[in-house]
Amino acid sequence: MLDKVKEIYQEIEQFNVASKDQLEQFRLRFVGRKGVITELFEGLKHVPQEDRRAVGQELNGLKNFALERFEAFTKTIDEQLSAADSTPPVDLTLPIVPNLTGTQHPLTLVRQRIIQIFERIGFNVADGPEIETDWYNFGALNFPDNHPARDMQDTFFIEKKSGTEQESADDVLLRTHTSNVQIRLMERHSKGETFRPIRSIMPGRVYRNETISARAHCLFHQVEGLYIDRNVGFKDLKDTLYHFVKEMFNKDTRIRFRPSYFPFTEPSAEIDISCQICGGSGCNICKHSGWVEIAGSGMVDPQVLANCGIDPEEYTGFAFGMGVERITQLKYVVNDLRLYTENDVRFLRQFEGL
Ligand code: DAH
Repeated sequence: MLDKVKEIYQEIEQFNVASKDQLEQFRLRFVGRKGVITELFEGLKHVPQEDRRAVGQELNGLKNFALERFEAFTKTIDEQLSAADSTPPVDLTLPIVPNLTGTQHPLTLVRQRIIQIFERIGFNVADGPEIETDWYNFGALNFPDNHPARDMQDTFFIEKKSGTEQESADDVLLRTHTSNVQIRLMERHSKGETFRPIRSIMPGRVYRNETISARAHCLFHQVEGLYIDRNVGFKDLKDTLYHFVKEMFNKDTRIRFRPSYFPFTEPSAEIDISCQICGGSGCNICKHSGWVEIAGSGMVDPQVLANCGIDPEEYTGFAFGMGVERITQLKYVVNDLRLYTENDVRFLRQFEGL
């Protein structure tokens, strides 16, 4: 019996408790009512009468030892658990840590809104290359080789194949407008047996060799529009753009069509809207005229249709091209084009939640 007591002392001494589970194991083995020590007490009745007292005292010692250990372990485990539980005290007067989520770029917001407005009236979205040949950017759009209109747009050429007109049609350049996508779309839709009507908008980046300033940039964005079918008239162009302007800005915005010239449309018009900044009374955004130009437009020139394999006797259409930066400027009063590409978060954050 006494050997057994010694053994259990040793076992208790070696028993290490580092978790709640181990504490429970300790309790079951040494402290609980079915533990080894209780078992020893039960064995006391088999101990000869004369030894019983001494052995009983030994057992009580052992029992107290186990209990003391158990209490000490319980205390440390409890302390450990409560330390892990309690978070440091919160100072409610501290300023909150700002939750910096990204924001949509203002040009993205405006592009998406433009797309949404046109999609609702049956336009789909088409895309085309930014690196383009002279033919798609100029030739097919009726810009003859030495036409002064080519000078209006300072082009970034990538590869020039000088010489004959045919060769220069293969010059490679960065597109100066999104009108190249009109040509690609019309070509695609006129392949095959019958022409498939087009009602598309074409958003994208365009490039011009301009010195960067508040008012000019070498990279900007346009959204091109094209509607070709039987019996499409100038009235349709007006209706469509009136609708767009009223949706994009507000119902009180005034619109005017100013006669203009583009090689690929006839007749052509530039579209002005009443200045959104001053309401039409005159400011430096509208150069004190009360009007701001937002797009070029016109009826697609029959020659352009023919260039793309569409019969101009049967089909007509209108086209327009608008500047996304200009619309954004009017909508959000952005006065410097450079802000769009500088990635200054003080600028970008102002569009949070829009
Ligand atoms: N491509 C012209 C430009 O960049 C804008 C334009 C004018 C597009 C008339 C058109 C249009 O589709 O019909 O200045």
